[in-house]
Amino acid sequence: MAVLPILTADHAVLRQKGKKIRTSANASLQRLIDDMIDTMRDAYGVGLAAPQVGKSLQVAVIEIPEQEVLVLVNPEIIKRTGQRQVEEGCLSVPGYRGLVWRSETVTIKALNRRGKEIRINRATGLLAQALEHEIDHLNGILYLDHLVAHEKLWKIEPHAVVPETEAAGMPQEPGR
Ligand code: NI
Repeated sequence: MAVLPILTADHAVLRQKGKKIRTSANASLQRLIDDMIDTMRDAYGVGLAAPQVGKSLQVAVIEIPEQEVLVLVNPEIIKRTGQRQVEEGCLSVPGYRGLVWRSETVTIKALNRRGKEIRINRATGLLAQALEHEIDHLNGILYLDHLVAHEKLWKIEPHAVVPETEAAGMPQEPGR
């Protein structure tokens, strides 16, 4: 297991659609997933997508505080409902946060790391936001593409105590 360098938004791989994984019975895929989990945790992220570590593949990991880590292989959004504005950041856009449009609920299907089909029905809150954010990465999309308005992107203190968070950190729904 290893912490990998996280690429920033000027790298072309972040704008490419990742390739689908054909088989999960593959030692290099399993190693990549373990390294992505280490890298996400090292950066205090809520999620990380393979293109962020230079691999143009349909693989993402998400870890919502106090929940089990979620590994998504070839994930697809099946349904979204509603719209909301939330604050967001990205490990590949260090030093910035923005206000973006996201869905209220998100339903996805994917394979887990063992190749078994999983489905997450009507996710809400931070999980819904992270699912949209990470699956966007696998399609070459960054949160900068969803800003509510051009000026709704701001610099944060370079030495802020708040860690750089992937997806979110301060979701605006009540009760979180
Ligand atoms: Ni990101």
